[in-house]
Amino acid sequence: MATIISIINYKGGTGKTTTTLNFGAALAKKRKKVLLLDFDSQCNLSLSTGVKNSEKHLGHVLAKKATIEDVIIKQDLYSIVPSTQELIDYEFAINNEPGREFIAKEFLEPIQDLYDYILIDCPPSLGTLSINSLVAADYFIVPMQPENFAFIGLDHLIGATMKVKNRMNPKLELAGILFVKFAYRTKFAQAILANILSDDNLKDKLFESYIRQDISVMESPAFHKNIFEYAPHSRGAKDFKNFANEFIKIYG
Ligand SMILES: Nc1ncnc2c1ncn2[C@@H]1O[C@H](COP(=O)(O)OP(=O)(O)OP(=O)(O)O)[C@@H](O)[C@H]1O
Ligand SMILES: [Mg+2]
Repeated sequence: MATIISIINYKGGTGKTTTTLNFGAALAKKRKKVLLLDFDSQCNLSLSTGVKNSEKHLGHVLAKKATIEDVIIKQDLYSIVPSTQELIDYEFAINNEPGREFIAKEFLEPIQDLYDYILIDCPPSLGTLSINSLVAADYFIVPMQPENFAFIGLDHLIGATMKVKNRMNPKLELAGILFVKFAYRTKFAQAILANILSDDNLKDKLFESYIRQDISVMESPAFHKNIFEYAPHSRGAKDFKNFANEFIKIYG
């Protein structure tokens, strides 16, 4: 049965898509069966894997015009449920549906035994699709860039996930906070680190591994490649491999 992981942050540009793609690739390289879902109408994850304007996509599954099996695209390393910009219209359309928070949980159920990990790339908001990802998930990972205002929204995000856990998904757990674009030696990074370590709720939830700033990580999506395909010897490849090892060691 697949472990379902929501990659989520209330803020934009924190590394959600980068983490979904490259953590997914790192797991797949360990011979795990991986499915990546694009829950964002910016469709950066789909584009990063070379899937543009797919004829069948997540929106059709939300609208029950297709099953999840119909829209899965198999690639060498992993499979993808793509999105297009139309996703925003499909999300809008389910906003008044009773039980709308459970739609993803429902459509993922029949395929759970086909994968080891299902990773969901969330949009930078706590709208219906992000809540759907949390209702379906076993864990959520919060990628964070150590920059000014990194903490803004974090309390709100954790508060919202607690409500989802209490009301709709008791098994949901914060797997951890992952620092992305982290420059360990800078005073600023150290200050952010100290801030997290002084928070009783979060101090045990920081992954030891972190992803360093790496130009290859930034470039690879433009070439429709994950970091292991684009620059297998880069810092980014090493860091995502270490992170996948740490994740598997803690959560299996
Ligand atoms: N380790 C890294 N080194 C260099 N650049 C990085 C790294 N991680 C992410 N980036 C870059 O930071 C930017 C934001 O990353 P990404 O798109 O993954 O964030 P996001 O949280 O998915 O954004 P959004 O909220 O818009 O969906 C991208 O340009 C990405 O290439
Ligand atoms: Mg993104």
